[in-house]
Amino acid sequence: SIYNCNVIELTKIHNRAGNITPVHGEFDIPFSIRRVYYLYDVPGGETRGGHAHKELHQLIIAASGSFDVILDDGKNKRTFTLNRPNYGLYVCPKIWRDLSNFSSGAVLLVLASERYSEADYIREYSEFLEFSNG
Ligand code: TYD
Repeated sequence: SIYNCNVIELTKIHNRAGNITPVHGEFDIPFSIRRVYYLYDVPGGETRGGHAHKELHQLIIAASGSFDVILDDGKNKRTFTLNRPNYGLYVCPKIWRDLSNFSSGAVLLVLASERYSEADYIREYSEFLEFSNG
């Protein structure tokens, strides 16, 4: 359920020359990392997401700028605003997500548990509801 999805505070190594945030799979986050991708140059007003994953675990980080993530487990919804690089939103499998309100220059960094597979996507909301209730 969406109540298993939470914001994780990551380490921030701070000094006067700036910050570093390291993320270790299976240690800082509850899965091992097999893929990293990032979303950027999102035009103002554009939305993304609009799908669920069957098996994939993800950590979503606002590496730069801000955006909103709306999570939906078929019963309840929660909205998270991400705007700090040392926090990540853990999204477990079987959760529908919509991404919106990207600030200009936003970079959405994703740490993912699996390689890309279109077969892992559910892109029809009606199919998601059947899948999540079944
Ligand atoms: P998608 O996950 O639907 O984007 P978003 O949720 O950000 O709107 O992916 C968009 C396209 O990019 C789709 O055609 C699949 C492709 N893609 C890959 O080839 N590899 C990847 O790792 C990802 C995330 C997407």
